[in-house]
Amino acid sequence: MTALTLKPAGAATQRADVLVVGVAKSPQGGKGPVLAPGAEAVDQAFDGKLADILHTLGATGAEGETTKIPSPGGLKAPVVLAVGLGASPEKDEEFDPEKLRRAAGSAARALTGVKTAAFALPIAATEDLQAVAEGALLGAYAFTAYQDRGKDAKEPLAEVVLLGAKPRDKAHKAAAQRAAAVAEEINRARDLINTPPNDLTPEAFAAIATAAGKEHGLKVQVLDEKALAKGGYGGILGVGAGSANPPRLVKIAYTASKGARHLALVGKGITYDSGGISLKPAGHNETMKCDMSGAAAVFAAVVAAARLGLEVNVTGWLALAENMPSGTATRPGDVLRMYSGKTVEVLNTDAEGRLVLADAITRASEEKPDAIVDVATLTGAMVLALGNRTFGIMANDDAFRAAIHEIAEEVGEQSWPMPLPADLRKGMDSPTADIANMGERMGGGLVAGLFLKEFVGEGITWAHLDIAGPAFHEGAPYGYTPKGGTGSSVRTLVRLAERTAAGELG
Ligand code: BES
Ligand code: ZN
Ligand code: ZN
Repeated sequence: MTALTLKPAGAATQRADVLVVGVAKSPQGGKGPVLAPGAEAVDQAFDGKLADILHTLGATGAEGETTKIPSPGGLKAPVVLAVGLGASPEKDEEFDPEKLRRAAGSAARALTGVKTAAFALPIAATEDLQAVAEGALLGAYAFTAYQDRGKDAKEPLAEVVLLGAKPRDKAHKAAAQRAAAVAEEINRARDLINTPPNDLTPEAFAAIATAAGKEHGLKVQVLDEKALAKGGYGGILGVGAGSANPPRLVKIAYTASKGARHLALVGKGITYDSGGISLKPAGHNETMKCDMSGAAAVFAAVVAAARLGLEVNVTGWLALAENMPSGTATRPGDVLRMYSGKTVEVLNTDAEGRLVLADAITRASEEKPDAIVDVATLTGAMVLALGNRTFGIMANDDAFRAAIHEIAEEVGEQSWPMPLPADLRKGMDSPTADIANMGERMGGGLVAGLFLKEFVGEGITWAHLDIAGPAFHEGAPYGYTPKGGTGSSVRTLVRLAERTAAGELG
């Protein structure tokens, strides 16, 4: 875990292994970069020639570009790292916090093997400080638990010092604490997503949630396969029926106070999605350990809410199962009786997420929360629609959907509001049961959303985040996003909880 400290000290006097400064593209269209605020003292040590030197080295200020140079005399750090922030802000405007978050992440990734780095990036407001801290801590993430990396292996950046901060200032202290809690919980979600599915079974996930609950004073209840059968959770049991690793439903509750508002979060936790009897073809199952990313995000958000002591009650529901084919697996054509009492004809066992979520949403509804948000790697159709970096938002309330979209934007997560067109419902009509788990192929992400909507308790505000695109990153790392599990939606959920606590929602 990377440490975080705030220092008011100027960049010239700070002892560190590396000093990080920001550079942006020239606003006049010149080829070389321009220095971002925060770099003044470092530039002085270079006799005002830092931008020229960086230009000579080929730097342009482009987003994510990193350039290392040895320090001249007058600095207490031997190396300076310039990180690109992209386009310069318009006149009289500041750098967007997400740009700072990404630049800090790129810098942290370029500093693997370094012990202490001091960041002198532009901090114009408290939210900038938080963004830089989050970006650095998220960028310093590495998942190496399963590798023998030898004795010369480089460790992630160990210590982040934020310069230009006010360590005694209440707002700055709170922002740093918030950034550390959120980043650590996002990294916890990433670890869970990256853990191979032979180790992260539903039972193992539930045990991890139980242990975290003890550590952070949360109430954790685990329903095992016997309790699920007794309770009539036909959706969760039906999906888990083919696996040697039985399913679990975990309730993890943070209680702020009796009178506080209540937010329920429901996460899809398919620890491995083979497709079941409707087996996925080769090429589609290699990354399906990521199918519990929704549950990981919900788990992380509940723990973060507790660590931050938010004035809102947050209940997480982790719907955990492994979707496998076998002689005991649910068949296409089987009818399940769900926890709600509704019957579902399973036409495709690969549409399993909506089945486990439906039971958990019904259960969450019993507690009459002010709002329910479910998070799921639910459909390939949403990836086709929005790509690999944007999650879709559906809801039974237009204002709530818009609010979540706005919150996501504010915390630097890409999302887009999607509709739930009523005409797609009839495609799920079943000749045998109340509803089928599949409908029209076109608009498949919306069809899945319409299915879930049927299980939301009367009068409860609900939103559904389909994170199938951004949950797991297969390309080269960029900004603070590593390869593998990303922790998508955690920042949005935490800010949603904060907004709910402030009485701004629900
Ligand atoms: N877990 C998948 C969705 C998914 C796809 C997640 C790509 C991450 C990346 C889900 O369970 C699934 O297989 N959905 C099917 C539904 C279909 C059978 C109606 C799909 O999207 O193809
Ligand atoms: Zn599936
Ligand atoms: Zn799935």
